[in-house]
Amino acid sequence: MTETVQRIVLASRPVGEPTFDNFRLEEFSVPQPGSGQMLLRTLWLSLDPYMRGRMNDAPSYAKPVGIGDVMEGGAVSEVLASNLTGFRKGDIVVGRTGWQTFALSDGKGLRQVDPTLAPIQTALGVLGMPGMTAYCGLLEIGQPAAGETVVVAAASGAVGSVVGQIAKIKGARAIGIAGGPEKCRYVVEELGFDACVDHRATDFAASLAAACPKGIDVYFENVGGAVFEAVLPLLNPFARMPVCGLIAQYNATSVAPGPNLLPQLMRATLTKRLTVRGFIVFDFTAQEGNFLRDVATWLQEGRIKYREDIVEGLDQAPCALIGLLRGENFGKLLVRIAPASW
Ligand SMILES: NC(=O)c1ccc[n+]([C@@H]2O[C@H](COP(=O)([O-])OP(=O)(O)OC[C@H]3O[C@@H](n4cnc5c(N)ncnc54)[C@H](OP(=O)(O)O)[C@@H]3O)[C@@H](O)[C@H]2O)c1
Repeated sequence: MTETVQRIVLASRPVGEPTFDNFRLEEFSVPQPGSGQMLLRTLWLSLDPYMRGRMNDAPSYAKPVGIGDVMEGGAVSEVLASNLTGFRKGDIVVGRTGWQTFALSDGKGLRQVDPTLAPIQTALGVLGMPGMTAYCGLLEIGQPAAGETVVVAAASGAVGSVVGQIAKIKGARAIGIAGGPEKCRYVVEELGFDACVDHRATDFAASLAAACPKGIDVYFENVGGAVFEAVLPLLNPFARMPVCGLIAQYNATSVAPGPNLLPQLMRATLTKRLTVRGFIVFDFTAQEGNFLRDVATWLQEGRIKYREDIVEGLDQAPCALIGLLRGENFGKLLVRIAPASW
């Protein structure tokens, strides 16, 4: 084979917002699969907020990417050659094979994708990690009841869009928070949320209060920062807060200025008997079958919709990840790497 592999490695660790210097594009020859291995061609690469955390050398729930190592990432790939039972040439698989155009794999952590169920790249979005995050975080921790008010930030994105739509399916009121009028309009008109409030608007806190006249029963936390400050006074007694992400803090280099809200949060947790529970999607691996069954059904019934934001080519991935952390994506952010051979 004469093709070359492209991969993007972590060249240096960012301080604050990542820059192009933190990434390096490398090329080498396509490797041949050995015994117990298969060769994968990457078709779609997922870009996700957690990647910013992996670029730091700091204690977390997962190991950082090493300097010079391939950037971590989920991808949908086609099997080009296989020396593994259970995987054949032409199979479509999803797994954490990283920012590269080809990968060798021993099959661990890979799942077959059924191309007849939905477009294959949905295995990175609504039918993949972000969709499962929304499903498990909302239903296992948020536990919305009919008539309750569910609020979610980053509401037009991969996780938030699914949270609000499942809340509606469960009979709750869904209120989104998103950046800018275009995203807010999409969340209400296309996704069917009851309202969506622009966190960039000057009257954000007052508009959120007006959209939640009966307070908030479930706040699905994706963002933190100023958005959470507006949410906190509106939480009802016994409100549940799945803490899924804090994207407003991912590029922070110091504690945000302003009053220390920790005493206020602890007082509200006590007096309102709040449930505040952080989670990582793999805490709920046992729910994967239920997730795929329910969300695939809702998708086929048209009760869940999704939007993709696609960039072309591996070399565009650094720019797109930097943009994701600024709120520039509109929908699930994906990199199209190559067409399938069929
Ligand atoms: N716990 C887990 O296992 C798990 C798994 C997957 C994802 N997550 C978390 O879930 C959250 C959403 O992820 P996603 O993949 O669905 O991303 P996404 O919503 O598709 O994209 C990120 C969005 O975050 C919003 N944002 C960025 N900076 C912000 C800021 N400073 N203040 C307010 N909003 C900001 C932007 O939307 P707007 O323009 O609308 O503000 C941006 O488009 C992230 O925090 C992520 O880390 C957690």
